[in-house]
Amino acid sequence: MNKPQPRTTRLHKPRRTVSIIGTGSYVPERILTNAELEKLVDTNDEWIVSRTGIKERRICAPGEHTSDMAAKAARAAMEKAGVTAEEIDMIIVGTITPDMSFPNTACLVQKLIGNKRAICFDLSAACSGFLYGLEIAQQFISSRACNTVLVIGADKLSGVVDWTDRNTCVLFGDGAGAAILRHRPGSHGVIHTTMGADGEFGEILHMPGGGSRLPVTKENIDEKHNTIKMSGKDVYKQAVTAMVSAANTALETAGLQTKDLACVIPHQANMRIIEAIGSRLGVGSDRVFVNLQRYGNTSAAAVAIALDEANRTGRMKQDDYILLVVFGGGLTWASSVIQW
Ligand code: ACO
Repeated sequence: MNKPQPRTTRLHKPRRTVSIIGTGSYVPERILTNAELEKLVDTNDEWIVSRTGIKERRICAPGEHTSDMAAKAARAAMEKAGVTAEEIDMIIVGTITPDMSFPNTACLVQKLIGNKRAICFDLSAACSGFLYGLEIAQQFISSRACNTVLVIGADKLSGVVDWTDRNTCVLFGDGAGAAILRHRPGSHGVIHTTMGADGEFGEILHMPGGGSRLPVTKENIDEKHNTIKMSGKDVYKQAVTAMVSAANTALETAGLQTKDLACVIPHQANMRIIEAIGSRLGVGSDRVFVNLQRYGNTSAAAVAIALDEANRTGRMKQDDYILLVVFGGGLTWASSVIQW
């Protein structure tokens, strides 16, 4: 008897390479300077710049939400890629500040950009959300389950920062970055992404309230459970160790060395963390992309905005190798090696 034949040949086709064919970003107009923060908490420009490198950050206007920023970044990426809304098969939004519990932010973006056919979901991996999303997109496209995927990193941290806590309020800002991924013949695209997590250290960077454990009640809000809590020194140590290790693993798996890289785009959290990573990887500052002085730490959006700015300012030429590396609450981390 003849063996039954599969109804589809999709699974039997070789996996496809996946490229970033367009990037976009958006930051709110309102600039909050270090001088303005001096009026809110006991801090000063010299302390903030010397400890973090941050000079200013962007803050959403009243009525402006994560989905609004995400949709604007998405439209810019679609325009750069020459892709229409209806061509998008999947929308992934990395965020820890969704507009609401549900519908997810990706569904809100779908409506804003005018798409009716994409699979939509949010991804919670804090500052690592964009690279986690990139890897999921890569898997769906390379297996031929999707053709065109929109990955967004977007966060409105101004809504969850304790504006009376000088340890945290000087660090964060709002923004969104996006990328369109698709198979592009003749290009390696995303060569390898390393991802990791360690729930053991969850409490060194977290927001305990707002979920089922500490729901939104007047008492919990008064106790400030709905704001970011951070142990800065512990985060610093874990961030440097995890990002250097992830970057080295990603490079090794890709068969490359740091000398092969045209550009390194790290998570934009803190200048001292970025310098420590550059020095341990042996990559000079001329090859490390930095924009955190203008935006602060925008969480999942940070590396996505940096990627878009590096792209638009010509930091990468076709076929250049670039390395992205991120770290965030969870703890979570990831690193991608990409041929542009
Ligand atoms: N202005 C003035 N003084 C401040 C401020 C401020 N904004 N914030 C803290 N201080 C004070 C502290 O109260 C402390 O005073 P004390 O000695 O009287 O108690 C003093 O400065 C030193 O505080 P430290 O915490 O020791 O300062 P440190 O040198 O560690 O720098 C920082 C703090 C910048 C947060 C550092 O630990 C760091 O970079 N950590 C990484 C955290 C980070 O980047 N988080 C972002 C989110 S995580 C992510 O995205 C990966």
